Amino acid sequence: MLLAGKKGIIFGALDNNSIAWKIAERAHQEGASIVLSNAPVALRMGTINQLAEKCNAPVIGADATNMEDLENLVRKAMEHFGGGFDFVLHSIGMSPNVRKKRDYTNLNYAYLTQTLDISAISLHKILQTCYQLDAINEWGSVVGLSYIAAQRTFPGYGDMADAKAALESIARSFGYHYGIKNKVRVNTISQSPTATTAGTGIKGFDDFFDYAQKMSPLGNASADACADYCISLFSDLTRMVTMHNLFHDGGFSNMGLSPLFLDK
Ligand code: NAI
Repeated sequence: MLLAGKKGIIFGALDNNSIAWKIAERAHQEGASIVLSNAPVALRMGTINQLAEKCNAPVIGADATNMEDLENLVRKAMEHFGGGFDFVLHSIGMSPNVRKKRDYTNLNYAYLTQTLDISAISLHKILQTCYQLDAINEWGSVVGLSYIAAQRTFPGYGDMADAKAALESIARSFGYHYGIKNKVRVNTISQSPTATTAGTGIKGFDDFFDYAQKMSPLGNASADACADYCISLFSDLTRMVTMHNLFHDGGFSNMGLSPLFLDK
């Protein structure tokens, strides 16, 4: 019961492959009370109600790029919890350029703006809304999900690489301000490739899943393992960890060369 008595908002559970879905299940198992949120279109298309029933959680729709939606969500969550909450999961990503298979050298800039807004600036919008409404309790924890394309080049990842670099930067910058204000910590987890709707939408996903699997001494981290790690970050056991991008990738990010690729 690592999260006994804790309350939080979980963004981004679309279906039971979603990383956020696994994190919501684990948070519930560990004793947390949660509110689930996703974009209105995802609420219509996904299966979030099954998760809501399982976790005994209300679902409050919000487009994470829309400040009015976010304010409404945070206010309603506070009403539901009877005050502030302790953790927030940002598990949101989407690139219209990637979705429409536009190469990085042929981006549509209106789409790029949407990619950045949905996948990165939304973290700032969520944090700013919580900050101004004083919604996150002292020693609270905010986690966003990132990918190593923020540091290294993975050509098929397109403009999502730029979004992830911005996401990690926002976590660092807001981590300072929220730490000073209320001892709230903000981190990102850089997760292995994971077979989800967003993951498999990336060009060549199967190939880079297999490549990372071979390259990582522990193999790729699953969504369930990501949930375990995330719970540790929401818990009081990691109170002094903030402003970090934390690799959760079976060792991938520190590898140079694997003998597996030299086998003839
Ligand atoms: P997913 O497709 O299940 O989740 C993405 C979520 O973003 C969906 O629930 C979708 O409805 C939500 N979303 C999109 N636009 C939104 C908006 N305007 N407002 C609110 N929500 C919106 O896929 P997955 O993989 O669980 O993605 C979660 C996070 O993990 C994303 O940030 C993704 O980039 C990140 N990640 C995924 C990896 C993978 O290989 N699947 C690897 C590393 C990071």
